[in-house]
Amino acid sequence: MRPTARGTDGCDLFIEVIKLKSATQQKPHRVAEAGNKLFTLNNIPMPAQTIKETSPSTQTDFLPLLGTDHIEFYVGNAKQAAHYYINAFGFQPLAYTGPETGVKDRASYAVRQNKLTFVFTAPMKPNNVIAQHVHQHGDGVRVLALLVEDARAAWKETTARGAGSYMEPITLSDDDGEVVLSGINLYGDTVHVFVERKNYHGSFMPGYAKWENPRFATKETGLLYVDHCVGNVGWNQMNRWAKFYEEVMGFRNILTFDDEDISTEYSALMSKVMSNGNGYVKFPINEPAEGKKKSQVEEYLEFYNGEGVQHIAMATNDIVTTVRELMSRGVEFLEVPASYYDDLLTRVGHIDEDIAPLRELGILVDRDNEGYLLQLFSKPVEDRPTLFFEIIQRKGARSFGKGNFKALFEAIEKEQGRRGNL
Ligand code: FE2
Repeated sequence: MRPTARGTDGCDLFIEVIKLKSATQQKPHRVAEAGNKLFTLNNIPMPAQTIKETSPSTQTDFLPLLGTDHIEFYVGNAKQAAHYYINAFGFQPLAYTGPETGVKDRASYAVRQNKLTFVFTAPMKPNNVIAQHVHQHGDGVRVLALLVEDARAAWKETTARGAGSYMEPITLSDDDGEVVLSGINLYGDTVHVFVERKNYHGSFMPGYAKWENPRFATKETGLLYVDHCVGNVGWNQMNRWAKFYEEVMGFRNILTFDDEDISTEYSALMSKVMSNGNGYVKFPINEPAEGKKKSQVEEYLEFYNGEGVQHIAMATNDIVTTVRELMSRGVEFLEVPASYYDDLLTRVGHIDEDIAPLRELGILVDRDNEGYLLQLFSKPVEDRPTLFFEIIQRKGARSFGKGNFKALFEAIEKEQGRRGNL
């Protein structure tokens, strides 16, 4: 159904001053003799991952977040990208906007699975910001949209604390009500959009028509919600963006991994996990660290042509069933050596699951002092070695799988080597 009333021309939303920054951050001079510590394989004591509590009782949360609203990808061909996520990941068609709904410069397809909503947007013309984004980065995440009670207040609070404005508050409306949007700039060409939809009853967003194809149906795969979403930033930029999340958005640093935690014989990275006050939204920030060979973050920065979203972790309550289904639909995952499972129970203690299906599917397990988690990482889902997905099932643990870093990063290095990028 075409919207009969709109607060603004939909195009206004997207007339933006894109800052297509020049590529990768300046890399420090690579030293011939970096300290021994970077080259030491890590033996990780268990449990060693204590989450710092997120809600300081003495402070009010100036940016209350209700969760992730949606993630928008700028891609070369939105129709085909949506089809991939529907077929391979089990998302369901939700909404569409494009020439048929009066939008001339783009086509956008929204898909949904439980609390996960992805939007794929492709340019119709060569000179708009979407086309420039795809030209610079390939397919990738443009918008990390956060659900808020008050999008005007979210914009006011964050810009007052130093955020660059991506979008001043704007109201979109149709027969189903109204949505207020605002936005701020994030690392690279990525942005946060604040979505206030308490007065909206439509399927997705004013300006979108319902999208369905009754002759075509795929089953969901048990993916539930965004667990966390990781950004890769340039050399020496991790603390800058951790500070941004602290000062501009009121987040806290709940975990830090240094280059000893996340290093193999060859490559290293550092990471800080930032969480909002209620813990609903977590954004780890990675930066490369010096190693003998090229870090996976360096490879990303080179091929994404700048900073951006590295991986999106999607939660499931039954990782064995979900991963088996994803694999049968063509999603490719990283493989760890079979020896990973030989002493698994010695490392992580008792778990409810049988080891056989975990070994068969390559699912990783890690424990912290609150419980354990199961996780698995896809290969990149586009031609460039950039964005990938994590599938995660938490059984008490609130950490991120530190005990798996070594096996995981060695698997990533193997793939890097196959691409000639190690
Ligand atoms: Fe992750």
